[in-house]
Amino acid sequence: MSTLLETSAPSAAEELSGRLFLQTLGAVELLNVYFGVELGLYRSLSFDGPATAAVLAERTGQDLRYTQEWLAQQAVAGLLTVGPDAEFRLADGVREALVDEVSSFYVGGMAYIVPAIGRALPALVSAFRTGNGVPYPAYGADAVTAQEALNRPAYETALIEDWLPQIPDIQARLADSTRPARVADLGAGVGWAAIRLAEAFPQVRVDGYDLDEESIARGRRYVADRGVADRVDLAVADITEPLPHDGYDVAFFFECLHDLPHPVAALEAARRAVSPGGSVIVMEERVAETFTAPGDEVERFMAAAGTLWCVPQGRTDASSDVIGPLGIRPAVMRHLAESAGFRTVETLAIDHPFWRFYRLG
Ligand SMILES: C[S@@+](CC[C@H](N)C(=O)[O-])C[C@H]1O[C@@H](n2cnc3c(N)ncnc32)[C@H](O)[C@@H]1O
Repeated sequence: MSTLLETSAPSAAEELSGRLFLQTLGAVELLNVYFGVELGLYRSLSFDGPATAAVLAERTGQDLRYTQEWLAQQAVAGLLTVGPDAEFRLADGVREALVDEVSSFYVGGMAYIVPAIGRALPALVSAFRTGNGVPYPAYGADAVTAQEALNRPAYETALIEDWLPQIPDIQARLADSTRPARVADLGAGVGWAAIRLAEAFPQVRVDGYDLDEESIARGRRYVADRGVADRVDLAVADITEPLPHDGYDVAFFFECLHDLPHPVAALEAARRAVSPGGSVIVMEERVAETFTAPGDEVERFMAAAGTLWCVPQGRTDASSDVIGPLGIRPAVMRHLAESAGFRTVETLAIDHPFWRFYRLG
């Protein structure tokens, strides 16, 4: 018979302690990666070459003592190597993972997630008690950096090259120069998807809408830098309300539906804003088809992001129906789309470890 004093098997406790130690190690090492990305230290070692602590401090305008400590930490962590000349250089893979922002291996944005959540943490603790939301701006500019860096590589390397060829009629519509297509990017963030669409299809016009002013302000600078300001218009707008324009040939929701307080209203607004024969494409989290616990790493990442990021941001009012990243399963997606008046919901064959793609008609 078990008693209240009975303890778990030592091996289970030992395993959990070890796992949580490794997670703590991951968190503190990730925050050291933040310094390397934010202060341009990896970038300098990549573009200006290997350096001693004194040279790197001089090059990047950092304090020498902190630079020494960071370089030693990075070498211990295996992200840098150090030679007998006391020169530090990037270890294999660091350039792709932490310097080259359009590499498909780039994960520099991951390092911004923890500081952004740290900034919002007091508000999140309070929100757990009150049930109120925590708006995106409460996470600070690092949140926008995290978000844009996480998804940009896929838009730069896969959206045009891999995903659209698997929706050939939409690809053909965008490429049709005799009838320039109009595209809406709903919840556009800083607009990397919109920019890539405009670059790849020189006739199309893209309207990107997002509620976050920092994202739109940043995105407008990127649009100008990439030379597509004549065809990409980014605007602050609430996509759960009727959209400012209609007549779109394609409307995309790139990984934002699960964040919205009123996803059905947003889908309905999109349905009304596309022309007859137009399409609505939704990219959402590739979570398990039914609740699965314990989950795999993707499921665990989505679950953790749900409590810390997506659900608080979507609880903007007492009537919020925010779904969160863990809940946006195919059956839920179908229900949302049907509630918004769509007759068909097709799961597309596009294969991605994090995302599933739907076409609503
Ligand atoms: C997970 S991010 C995705 C951003 C972008 N599509 C990407 O893939 O990088 C979700 C976006 O939805 C935006 N958002 C949240 N609620 C919104 C609303 N009611 N209207 C417009 N945008 C909203 C957020 O500001 C954020 O930029």
